Amino acid sequence: QEDLFKNVVSHAKEYGFIFPSSEIYDGLSAVYDYAQNGVELKKNIRDYWWKSMVQMHENIVGLDAAILMHPTTWKASGHVDAFNDPLIDNKDSKKRYRADVLIEDYAEKLNIKAQKEIEKARVRFGDAFNEQEFISTNPRVVEYLSKKNEILARMAKSLDAGDLDDVKLLIEELEIACPDSGSKNWTEVRQFNLMFGTKLGASADSAMDLYLRPETAQGIFVNFLNVQKTGRMKIPFGIAQTGKAFRNEIVARQFIFRMREFEQMEMQFFVKPGEEMKWYEYWKTTRLNWHKSLGLGAENYRFHDHEKLAHYANAAADIEFNFPFGFKELEGIHSRTDFDLKAHEQFSGKKLQYFDTEENKNYVPYVVETSVGLDRMFLAVFSKALQEETLEDGSTRTVLRLPSVLAPTKAAILPLVKKDGLPEIAKEIMEDLKWDFNVAYDEKDAVGRRYRRQDALGTPFCITVDHQTIEDKTVTIRHRDSMQQERVAIADLKNIIENEVSV
Ligand code: GAP
Repeated sequence: QEDLFKNVVSHAKEYGFIFPSSEIYDGLSAVYDYAQNGVELKKNIRDYWWKSMVQMHENIVGLDAAILMHPTTWKASGHVDAFNDPLIDNKDSKKRYRADVLIEDYAEKLNIKAQKEIEKARVRFGDAFNEQEFISTNPRVVEYLSKKNEILARMAKSLDAGDLDDVKLLIEELEIACPDSGSKNWTEVRQFNLMFGTKLGASADSAMDLYLRPETAQGIFVNFLNVQKTGRMKIPFGIAQTGKAFRNEIVARQFIFRMREFEQMEMQFFVKPGEEMKWYEYWKTTRLNWHKSLGLGAENYRFHDHEKLAHYANAAADIEFNFPFGFKELEGIHSRTDFDLKAHEQFSGKKLQYFDTEENKNYVPYVVETSVGLDRMFLAVFSKALQEETLEDGSTRTVLRLPSVLAPTKAAILPLVKKDGLPEIAKEIMEDLKWDFNVAYDEKDAVGRRYRRQDALGTPFCITVDHQTIEDKTVTIRHRDSMQQERVAIADLKNIIENEVSV
């Protein structure tokens, strides 16, 4: 698993998907740049989301609100008061940690121990293995899993109650119980606000303190009535937005999983009060199906219902994905009640109400939100797609089995040799196809090596121009996943590619 993750990071760099930010200055912690292929994959994921959320729903419209917002926004939203992480410093190593992440790491260690026992037993018992029975009766597994649940429950309770002393105590107890970690010297746990501050205006006394938005959602809330009125939207309706968000994460790690500058794809769905649970369930199912439609394997997704709710929610669930480092949050679905709109009414003094013509009355709508990190989607897709295969002849190949709709380049056009007029024909084909698809041309190296390079980039098709092409206007088309090749007419290429890459 660890090796797989290392491969993901190095493949992303080597093949021009993701670079550390400002690398010539040794990078900037938890900030990354998307390179020539990464930017295409990221754009395709964004477009795929946008199409399914906005284009396919007549009652959902888009928005692109500014990153900088009036500072009162963040008082109303609760982020000034509540957007905090519990921090703890280690006095010996001088390292800073998020207390909840430390505790979750311990819980995960117990989980891994339990999973190892289960896997061992599966191998031992073969077909006769009954996983459920084993989990509930094997004393070691029972102990690991109940300890894990106990730790997480106690953490949630203490954080909820603001009992930071108990959070510290729990960390110390876990360290004593876990001999390999050694005793450490911790500070008190304290809360730290995650918003990045900045200033608007030049002169020191008139400058206004602003924040870079920590979520895109607030741009939607403050525009709710503008969009509703100008778009003549009828409840239930949604507003969707993609864009950058910023959080001064304390423990930023695991590559692009948790970054300080990242992109969200969010949709706020405005509903009649009392109908929010129906829509909450609807969006949970719809969003899970959307993820599954990418074909990365249904077993890689699961729901995690929140016990500890954010300050704005009355129900919340994560869609978790099986990342190379285990199941972690990919998307959040939150029933946010009328918390945000009511708060903005209160702080702005402006009414943010909807007039329901059927009921003949005004009300503040309830909101169900779907919120997915674009970078996390990227990591999910990229890490599952990256595979090492052993071929029949014993050799290996690296292939990025991206869903074709998301692949950065849809086809590479390759002249078999760099002479006899073949490059000219290949370029003609490229000129024709580029109106419809992102295509590439490559004439360097032997054709086998060029195929492998395109496999590693996730290109679904390689089109090879050879001497027969001159005679009969046909080419070979090679499929990335099966490596099968067929001879087809140049005139048919567009249709063949279209069938494979359209949603
Ligand atoms: N508007 C609700 C909201 O922002 P969240 O659970 O804090 O909820 C939603 O964030 C999603 O944004 C997460 O599920 C995750 O995919 C992504 N996300 C949050 N923080 C992130 C970070 N530091 N780096 C990358 N993605 C992040």
